Amino acid sequence: MESPNALNHLAIIMDGNGRWAKERNFNRTEGHKEGANVVRDITKWCAKNHISYLSLYAFSTENWSRPKIEVDFLMKLLENYLIKEAKTYKEHNIRFKVIGDISDFSNKLKDLICNLEDSTSKNSSLTQILALNYGSRDEIARVFLKLKIPKNSTKQEVSKLIESNLDTFDIPDVDLLIRTGGEMRLSNFLLYQSAYAELYFSDTLFPDFTSDELENIIDIYKQRNRRFGAI
Ligand code: IPE
Ligand code: IPE
Ligand code: MG
Repeated sequence: MESPNALNHLAIIMDGNGRWAKERNFNRTEGHKEGANVVRDITKWCAKNHISYLSLYAFSTENWSRPKIEVDFLMKLLENYLIKEAKTYKEHNIRFKVIGDISDFSNKLKDLICNLEDSTSKNSSLTQILALNYGSRDEIARVFLKLKIPKNSTKQEVSKLIESNLDTFDIPDVDLLIRTGGEMRLSNFLLYQSAYAELYFSDTLFPDFTSDELENIIDIYKQRNRRFGAI
């Protein structure tokens, strides 16, 4: 039997918080709070199960178009999460990294992010990557702003230059991309990095997502036939 696929980089589009809350006649913010608890559980599970990289889509470049009250709540929730969970990263030897453009975030949030990135930079179990004000098109535009392409470069050289200037410059390509919440779209998440990712769409709303379901999805992934254009 062929050996099962390795899983180095898992990415999750955490969708369905609002609908989870609506089903219970709660405010949408309750769904986000519950989602944050799931983030903690899933992250710990990934660290324990030797997954090297876990990318989580937490706030997209398009999410600013939500009502201000929801955006403000999400920023506050993030602040509280980073303060409260600092100990989880330490205890479980998890490295924290943010992708996306956080330049317009509050100074308090930026400091919290930078401090946690610094204090966990040597941690060596899981790298948890939080996508904040992230969108692939924005990321690629930011690459172009940084890039200086030497004349007569080959396509391969330009590809290398692009990859080394993406937010994910030190992270391998996505192996498995899961979206919860039943929608079948990528919503501008890791488009370049997921060129050959295996996709899995779950109807489970993110606050109901469990490590048991994740384990089942990973088992399915391991049996997929990844061909990368070959036969
Ligand atoms: C995902 O859940 C979380 C964020 C985008 C911040 P949603 O808030 O999109 O939940 P639904 O899709 O409205 O149910
Ligand atoms: C994608 O969910 C963004 C995050 C999970 C952070 P959305 O709820 O924003 O996506 P659309 O609008 O349904 O495509
Ligand atoms: Mg949604």
